[in-house]
Amino acid sequence: MEDLSLHILDIAENSLNAGARHIGITIREDLGKDLLTIEVVDDGRGMDEHEAQRATDPFYTTRTTRRVGLGLGLLLQAARAANGNLDISAAPGEGMTIRATFQLSHLDRKPLGNMAETITVLITGRPDVDFTYRHERNGWSLWFSTQELKSRLGDVPLNDPETLSFVRQYLTQEEQSIQHHS
Ligand SMILES: Nc1ncnc2c1ncn2[C@@H]1O[C@H](COP(=O)(O)OP(=O)(O)OP(=O)(O)O)[C@@H](O)[C@H]1O
Ligand SMILES: [Mg+2]
Repeated sequence: MEDLSLHILDIAENSLNAGARHIGITIREDLGKDLLTIEVVDDGRGMDEHEAQRATDPFYTTRTTRRVGLGLGLLLQAARAANGNLDISAAPGEGMTIRATFQLSHLDRKPLGNMAETITVLITGRPDVDFTYRHERNGWSLWFSTQELKSRLGDVPLNDPETLSFVRQYLTQEEQSIQHHS
């Protein structure tokens, strides 16, 4: 996987598989601390301590179609390659929080990629789930919530093609503007 946005898509898909109804994705870029943090919080079925410990092991998976699970292991690898780490905190029935850190300026830090596309793909697939997305970069931030958008849309469904293309455009613009300002 070339871009962190694809890792984020993968991690959010884990949350969907775990039955999450709310998924929060936060990206923080702190240029002063030279630190990039990605956090994904969900309210899915969670994991016990044993599962959480094994979750980054590429041979651990609860899926039945293929005997290896790569998502978390690959994210851990990407974080470590950029002088960072991956923390997982979870409890059974209490959802899960994943925090990946990266040295922002590290040569091996993968680019963020297209977050507008990642969020749009998630909403397209699961318009029934609430997604919150926040991206902070040196004092500038963007915030997006499907719940808020739904309340503005009224009867128009979230996965209406026009709504989706609005979301993609809006997020693309906002991403450009926080990159530009800092
Ligand atoms: N958000 C989550 N909530 C509960 N359990 C999770 C969550 N994310 C991962 N897990 C558990 O950790 C295991 C490993 O996840 P990982 O993404 O590495 O592999 P996978 O999802 O099984 O396979 P792949 O991502 O390759 O399709 C999962 O099978 C699941 O049991
Ligand atoms: Mg996975």
